Amino acid sequence: MNQENILEIRNISKSFGAVQALSNVSFTVGRSEIVGLVGDNGAGKSTIINLLMGVYQPDEGDIYFEGKRVTFVSPRNTRAIGIEPVYQSTAVVDLMNLWRNFYLGREVTRSFGPFRVLDKAEMKKKSIEMMWDIGVHVREADESVQYMSGGERQSLCIGRCMEFGGKMLLLDEPTAALSLKETDKVLKFAESVREKGLSEIIVDHNVYHIYPIVDRFVIMGRGRKITELRKADVSAEDVIETLMKL
Ligand SMILES: Nc1ncnc2c1ncn2[C@@H]1O[C@H](COP(=O)(O)OP(=O)(O)OP(=O)(O)O)[C@@H](O)[C@H]1O
Ligand SMILES: [Mg+2]
Repeated sequence: MNQENILEIRNISKSFGAVQALSNVSFTVGRSEIVGLVGDNGAGKSTIINLLMGVYQPDEGDIYFEGKRVTFVSPRNTRAIGIEPVYQSTAVVDLMNLWRNFYLGREVTRSFGPFRVLDKAEMKKKSIEMMWDIGVHVREADESVQYMSGGERQSLCIGRCMEFGGKMLLLDEPTAALSLKETDKVLKFAESVREKGLSEIIVDHNVYHIYPIVDRFVIMGRGRKITELRKADVSAEDVIETLMKL
């Protein structure tokens, strides 16, 4: 495997009963590269994301991450490897407050005599700092995530990924159900990960939304990879035209 690639999906197939969701799909994601995964409804985009999240296992094919063959068995396992999902709501536990969400599964502890105790003050301070860093001006670390907007929640996921040494983000329709202003904000974050050396797969129905931020498009149709287009070689209209022909 090319060391410039952080992820390689090789000859993946997946069916659900009689539905062949993916047939022999292969593509790569480079380091600090943003790949836009586009295609019509039912093309298999979310299935790819779900395979990477360990929600399902592929029937056939292999996945390589940082040059090693990996098997994703659960979302927790995927996150431990360094791949972070950014969903509208499911990646954060709604009823928890901001700092708890931020440190979910990675709580900071300190020594207290012979014991290890949760370092709440440190976690609260850091989670607020990180959110400000990425442009979400939260005031209270105790604020419940259920009162945060969709865009703010996504920012939390992105911030969490950066803070904990995540290497890759998966965004499945991050702008669905967001206001124009929030869409703009989320896309800016989605783009900012490149400067931090992170890689990303972003799924979006709106080619115009993601055209400014992606490096390459992988175009899916009926469970197959139709083609790949480097942004440098095509206009947004070319991508849309390719999609319309499917
Ligand atoms: N858990 C499942 N059980 C049965 N069929 C499924 C399941 N998940 C996906 N499918 C089917 O697999 C195919 C691909 O679905 P997928 O959700 O990956 O498409 P998509 O490209 O994300 O579409 P959309 O743009 O509408 O989100 C569809 O025919 C879908 O109905
Ligand atoms: Mg989908």
